[in-house]
Amino acid sequence: MKLELPDLAAMERLGARIAAALRPGDVVALSGTLGTGKTTLARAIIAALGHRGEVPSPTFTIVETYDPPALRLPLVHADFYRLKHPAEAEEIGLDDYRSGAVLLAEWPEMAGGFADEPGCLSIILETAETGRIAIVELGADWLGRLG
Ligand SMILES: Nc1ncnc2c1ncn2[C@@H]1O[C@H](COP(=O)(O)OP(=O)(O)OP(=O)(O)O)[C@@H](O)[C@H]1O
Ligand SMILES: [Mg+2]
Repeated sequence: MKLELPDLAAMERLGARIAAALRPGDVVALSGTLGTGKTTLARAIIAALGHRGEVPSPTFTIVETYDPPALRLPLVHADFYRLKHPAEAEEIGLDDYRSGAVLLAEWPEMAGGFADEPGCLSIILETAETGRIAIVELGADWLGRLG
């Protein structure tokens, strides 16, 4: 599925659509080169789940967590860009962070990738003439869920 995202409002709408469909255990894998809008879409999802205020980029912390009641469900926002090896994801305790939560993963390939999980929604962002394009691939658990 290919989506056109001409502006920030389109990112907000896609974020809201994803947020409404999320279930614990899901992964939203946000791929794309530098500056393609991964954090922008993650912020839109987190805001649509109920968060108010800043959403710091996890560039340096690697992981930022969000919990109910501020959000509809627990969420981990991760940026794996700085991992030196995929095994580091395990070392920082990713499995524990993910337990019962949604994972929003920027640079998922640096953590070994999540596309083999049925709950993985893969989004590849690319720059376009106007704004961005998203290539969306649904894991088996996502079929029929995005509306
Ligand atoms: N659909 C869009 N149309 C136009 N500009 C956009 C769109 N989405 C995001 N941007 C802009 O692109 C810039 C980079 O966005 P963002 O920081 O989210 O990228 P990123 O993929 O997280 O980058 P990095 O790899 O450095 O973490 C921001 O200035 C943002 O406002
Ligand atoms: Mg980013």
